[in-house]
Amino acid sequence: MANIAVIGTQWGDEGKGKVVDLLAEHADMVVRFQGGNNAGHTMVVDGKQFISHLVPSGILQNKTCIIGNGLVVDPEVLIEEMDYLNSKGIDVGPDKIKISERAHLIMPYHKAIDHAREAKKGDKKIGTTGRGIGPTYEDKATRRGLRFVDLLDEETFSERVRTILDEKNFYLTNYLAAESLNPESIIDNYRLYAERLAPHVTNVSISIYETIKSGKQVLFEGAQGTHLDIDHGTYPYVTSSNVVAGNACSGAGVGPKEITGVIGIVKAYTTRVGRGPFPTELFDDVGDAIQEKGAEFGATTGRRRRCGWLDTVLLRNAVRLNGLTGLAVTKLDVLGGLDTLKICTGYEHNEQRLNDFPTSLKVLAACKPVYETLSGWPEDISSVREYNNLPDNSMNYLKRLEELVETPIHIISIGPGRDETIVLHNPFLTG
Ligand code: IMP
Repeated sequence: MANIAVIGTQWGDEGKGKVVDLLAEHADMVVRFQGGNNAGHTMVVDGKQFISHLVPSGILQNKTCIIGNGLVVDPEVLIEEMDYLNSKGIDVGPDKIKISERAHLIMPYHKAIDHAREAKKGDKKIGTTGRGIGPTYEDKATRRGLRFVDLLDEETFSERVRTILDEKNFYLTNYLAAESLNPESIIDNYRLYAERLAPHVTNVSISIYETIKSGKQVLFEGAQGTHLDIDHGTYPYVTSSNVVAGNACSGAGVGPKEITGVIGIVKAYTTRVGRGPFPTELFDDVGDAIQEKGAEFGATTGRRRRCGWLDTVLLRNAVRLNGLTGLAVTKLDVLGGLDTLKICTGYEHNEQRLNDFPTSLKVLAACKPVYETLSGWPEDISSVREYNNLPDNSMNYLKRLEELVETPIHIISIGPGRDETIVLHNPFLTG
């Protein structure tokens, strides 16, 4: 039996949603373990597009979907998403979506603080998604957070909101020059959310444990990407949670020996939304062409994504940090039509070659990528279904990637649809 984690290797938006949706067919349960509705997973099934922010992508395969303790959840957004999926004929009942009683709640003051802080920082802002993610994790760490277990206890919840708001309103109005919030309207709204979500709230660690114990397979669905990890990413231009595979354990409540493989999702080029250094970023027509052809706009915020060449320094870092056992390369079709392609194999800093991703952002920002140039392919490859029918130059590109990061490619995605995929190795079928 296999239990597989699927992790983004770059700065998010690698196309995890599609790969999770595809692999979820072979799993019995799909678990999200970190982040919140800062994520945006786009899936296309039978020509219809679905975007999910909180509900694991496995919902389209009618699997049990788990929202783990490691998430921060905006209950209003979750309910909207469940209603949206339900209107598309997808079962979102309590057997299908289970929420950890330990997951933290995003509250209106978290969103207000996120917005007001970013506005105050001006051009020093992080470029957050504005969903209140950072302020919610901050309250979790300082033990002032509210969890689903609190939401279901009306008296305690109301009392805590009143007390917390006292402090938050002081901070919002006096420091951030933002509006204060009314505790009673928050309490009233959250009472409605509690009624609606109560049947879904449970100890999900037990649900996952029992699923694994009964010989069924579990898929752990990462959000964001390795280089947005709060510890291992380009801090402070990162998200507020651990994104790496190790957090699948603490963010879901399972032991490390249960995870049998880790698939890293690699977009065939690199993108980034928000701010922070990006060594292989392109500022020319090629970058614009990739941005346009790849429709590189954020699924959550609609922001234009910055685009650049594939960076194997970044990817080798992701291989090590996540213990990747295989890769899924996405959006290879987008690179079709370019005469030449570049792959970054190392960085140059102060005339010295760096083979490893630096920690200092100052160093990273001053790094010059060292490139290898490969020939492109003119053909549209989106209709190819067999690896051997891919143009030679696209195979050369993939082989060089495999060599440089010393990890085998298991899946190649050549279009947004579920069927626009070449599966060389399915970890759920062969371990
Ligand atoms: P936050 O997660 O909203 O606090 O944003 C922090 C940083 O992470 C910003 O640069 C965001 O653009 C980035 N970010 C958060 N979630 C995603 C994602 O799902 N894809 C890509 N970037 C993300």
